Amino acid sequence: MFVFNFNKTTMPVFYRKATFNTYLNSIKSQNSTLGFIPTMGALHLGHLSLMQQSLSENKFTVVSIFVNPTQFNNPVDLAKYPRTLESDLEKISNLNDQIIVYAPSVEDLYDGNPISQSFDFDGLENQMEGKFRPGHFDGVGTIVKRLFEVVNPTNAYFGEKDFQQLQIVKKMVQKNHLNVNVIGCPIYRESNNLAMSSRNELLTVQERHDASIIYSTLITSKEKFKTKSAQTVELWAKKNFEKDKTFKLEYFQIADEATLLPCLIKNKNKKYRAFIAVFVNNIRLIDTILLN
Ligand code: PAF
Repeated sequence: MFVFNFNKTTMPVFYRKATFNTYLNSIKSQNSTLGFIPTMGALHLGHLSLMQQSLSENKFTVVSIFVNPTQFNNPVDLAKYPRTLESDLEKISNLNDQIIVYAPSVEDLYDGNPISQSFDFDGLENQMEGKFRPGHFDGVGTIVKRLFEVVNPTNAYFGEKDFQQLQIVKKMVQKNHLNVNVIGCPIYRESNNLAMSSRNELLTVQERHDASIIYSTLITSKEKFKTKSAQTVELWAKKNFEKDKTFKLEYFQIADEATLLPCLIKNKNKKYRAFIAVFVNNIRLIDTILLN
């Protein structure tokens, strides 16, 4: 075990699953609960809020920091993804130095074979992110399943910003009969309502400021959806971005929250969400809002 020393605090940090497993087995007893927050690092307040929730609901909390290569369909995106382990460890230990950190290498976690398993998520994988990032959800399913096997958590916490990912992880757990509660947590936003994301670090100050257009589009859509069809709202959102030179809309989709299928005719018994993906200077940002 490596002990991270910061401001006289010590926090257990593991880089290898063998030592990490031995440690977990030594501290866990039959009824102790373990909360788990899988991350790719570059931690922000959104991640810290998931940790806070886990700390309040479990005896132990584990955070993994691992930039998973198999979920990136674009090698440039993978290369550019921020890697900030030292400052991530500092942020976690400032929050609570009892948190256990697992920060493996690709070699350790994939046993030298970083390839994706192929999953059937009952069609959830074919919508939105799945259309624009081929193979992405196979990569997510593979790594989350593997992490669940290594960590064996009672509760696992995921942000609702990646709502499609949350639904896919729930489906993976259900189909594989895994004994984990998957808990969706509210989106944490910056002061201009930009959803917190590790990718925000890659934006210029101006881009970060102007990225408020994403949330303002969502909130106006919510208002419009009260009286207009999904198609009319989608068209309006697309037009809203045509005027903008900095932000390029990849998709704006209103979909059934459970199936993620596009909303063709509104059904008052269903819950709908707007989903958006936008490029600014090759940096991809996503967000979502519940509409009804
Ligand atoms: O949401 C993320 O940060 C990643 O997709 C996850 C769940 C940690 C898997 O690599």
